Amino acid sequence: FHLFSIMEGSSILRRADCRAKGGAPGFKVAILGAAGGIGQPLAMLMKMNPLVSVLHLYDVVNAPGVTADISHMDTGAVVRGFLGQPQLENALTGMDLVIIPAGVPRKPGMTRDDLFNINAGIVRTLCEGIAKCCPKAIVNLISNPVNSTVPIAAEVFKKAGMYDPKRLLGVTTLDVVRANTFVAEVLGLDPRQVDVPVVGGHAGVTILPLLSQVKPPCKSWTGSATLSMAYAAVKFADACLRGLRGDAGVVECAFVASEVTELPFFATKVRLGRNGAEEVYQLGPLNEYERIGLEKAKKELEASIQKGVSFIRK
Ligand code: NAD
Ligand code: LMR
Repeated sequence: FHLFSIMEGSSILRRADCRAKGGAPGFKVAILGAAGGIGQPLAMLMKMNPLVSVLHLYDVVNAPGVTADISHMDTGAVVRGFLGQPQLENALTGMDLVIIPAGVPRKPGMTRDDLFNINAGIVRTLCEGIAKCCPKAIVNLISNPVNSTVPIAAEVFKKAGMYDPKRLLGVTTLDVVRANTFVAEVLGLDPRQVDVPVVGGHAGVTILPLLSQVKPPCKSWTGSATLSMAYAAVKFADACLRGLRGDAGVVECAFVASEVTELPFFATKVRLGRNGAEEVYQLGPLNEYERIGLEKAKKELEASIQKGVSFIRK
């Protein structure tokens, strides 16, 4: 009892700060929307990541409880919780990487675009905070519709005069891990050996798996994904942190500012480095089926991007 009463007192904060200052080297990571279906398992998995020294958990509800729970894990990262808008700036100050799964998920019968009206405003507010408090942070944007929220974030950052396209990445990793899993199942392979590039965007026909480029070569549930998304988000965040550390050859798919097509944003493979997405790869050879898919994807993507841009410029 004595031990726990000490741990629950303010001394835990002091010990945590000591560890953050003198302790394990690593990066400072904030999760915005940390009490949600994705946020909670994502926070747990980031607490287990040895590249993370400080983990800030921000939400408009339940952040203190989730923080207390996660903080009892005996791994290196120091965890701090932040509740509600007045604490947003403290949550963001000094962060190297900000992961955003904040916002509403869709319900059966909805498209991702149906979330625009609520999530656009949430993403705008959070990105205004990032522009002010950690303008150099890498941003991993998960909130849907990604095809519009990434352009919204870009417009907010442009307005604030700190936009760096390399540092803003829409997370499409869930499409890649799903495609890898499905293809592995069909081919009877270990999914870890499969690499399916998924390009375009993250909604309906804009999700374009390039099965012709699969390596090795080959040919109901009503809610929104949370556990596999948390896994995907951690996979992507870990790749971003390895890039920040200076590791060579870190390549993942992401929805980024791009010149690969005539559209201003597009998901392809990118090389992650100290500055974020340092190289955006071309699509590579497409088969006839993929070329048709690409045209459909571009049409829908163009409208979603424009919708995001107009939300801020209007
Ligand atoms: P959820 O409702 O379980 O959690 C969302 C969390 O965001 C909640 O805790 C909520 O309190 C918080 N939140 C709401 N407004 C906020 C604000 N202004 N600031 C900070 N936090 C706020 O939803 P979920 O299942 O975790 O999904 C979150 C988002 O991620 C949805 O938009 C969903 O569509 C999207 N998503 C994206 C992908 C992808 O591949 N990119 C995959 C799955 C889900
Ligand atoms: C997904 O791909 O599972 C997410 O974008 C959530 C959703 O609404 O489908």
